[in-house]
Amino acid sequence: MPNSSPFLGKRVVLGVGGGIAAYKSVELMRRLVDAGAFVSPVLTAASLKFVGATTFSALGSERARISLFDDDDPIPHTSLGKQADAIIVAPATADLIARYAAGLADDLLTTTLIATRAPVVIVAAMHTEMWQHPSVVDNIATLRRRGVVVIEPEVGRLAGGDTGVGRLASTERVLAAVEGLFLEGRGLLLGKKVLVTAGGTRESIDPVRYIGNRSSGKQGIAFATAAARFGADVTLVCTIAPPDEPGIDVVEVESAQQMFDAVSTRVADGFDLVVMAAAVADFRCKDVSPIKIKKSQGAPQVVLEPTPDILAYLGSVKPKNQILIGFAAETGELESEARRKLKEKKADFVVANNVLEHDAGFAVDTNRVTLVYDDSVLAFELDDKRHIAIKVLSFVAEWARINGVWPK
Ligand code: CTP
Repeated sequence: MPNSSPFLGKRVVLGVGGGIAAYKSVELMRRLVDAGAFVSPVLTAASLKFVGATTFSALGSERARISLFDDDDPIPHTSLGKQADAIIVAPATADLIARYAAGLADDLLTTTLIATRAPVVIVAAMHTEMWQHPSVVDNIATLRRRGVVVIEPEVGRLAGGDTGVGRLASTERVLAAVEGLFLEGRGLLLGKKVLVTAGGTRESIDPVRYIGNRSSGKQGIAFATAAARFGADVTLVCTIAPPDEPGIDVVEVESAQQMFDAVSTRVADGFDLVVMAAAVADFRCKDVSPIKIKKSQGAPQVVLEPTPDILAYLGSVKPKNQILIGFAAETGELESEARRKLKEKKADFVVANNVLEHDAGFAVDTNRVTLVYDDSVLAFELDDKRHIAIKVLSFVAEWARINGVWPK
């Protein structure tokens, strides 16, 4: 377990509802304990139809509790609720969600949920019809309005052989959401408006083919997610499937021109920070064929023309209290090229990486970046793209406050 684990020493109440996905909570609990959290399992009566309390007692940090009227602890709901750094409910059934939304407190778990001030994460799992029922939709909206983090179910095979939305989110997703709650510097970007672009643009040749690039969008998505977890109001303009993360307003685009249009029509929105992580095509086809080009016509002559440079445009209209971060994907001279782009495009920071490295850049989950700014250079060690985003944003926010770009 790394010393830096955000879970280290955190007290987590893991509430388990009565659904078939209850068995997956065992793995979630194990991972939380392995990451250094102190996990108190609280099982509902219905959950005991699916899983045994002994399993949770054996693997949790203390024995599983199932009753409000515990012999050792006369008021377990308040002691659990007060001590908790976070409460996770997985699986959260339609019934449990309804009782929590209505403020009912008729068992240990619902009573603990009402008695706590700790952040609550609800991991919903149920049949598609139930998840889409207006009562569940309304209850989820109510909980979100109250600040509860709701992790929506995924699409997959459900109990009884059905397929659809309803499956409990992966353990990784739940852990990432809880980690976000424990992040040092939570609230670092509270009240800030952040614009992030992510993914590679696609430039049409005809209705079937396009010119693209190898960007997976992972680093840009990591920036958007980290900014949202730091409390920012995030707009994400992207060419790839967006993350399921509260606090991110997604605008999906495909081409460089569409990305330029999406960004330029929003520049007046007063962004405090712009992260231009997208790999934007430099050239597009001058004439896009409206119909499929047939092989029988022979090899086509594709004539290219430049696309708008979005970062350079943003640099030319940048208000003085905005921070502009560009990227530089390089295969050779890293620092000098990043510095050239910093100056030419009038950015405040350029995040540079060498895309030829096997563990950094395109498509992989890790990155090794160098931050170029002012007359300085800061090299970050190889890390998970999520942590790279967290570290860069923390550094940039600090820099913005020290240099008076943002009020202290
Ligand atoms: N960029 C942009 N619009 C473009 C091309 C690039 O906004 N039409 C942005 C990218 O999002 C990135 C930065 O400019 O933040 C640098 O992109 P990169 O592809 O590394 O550099 P280029 O400007 O294309 O320069 P070169 O081809 O010389 O590397």
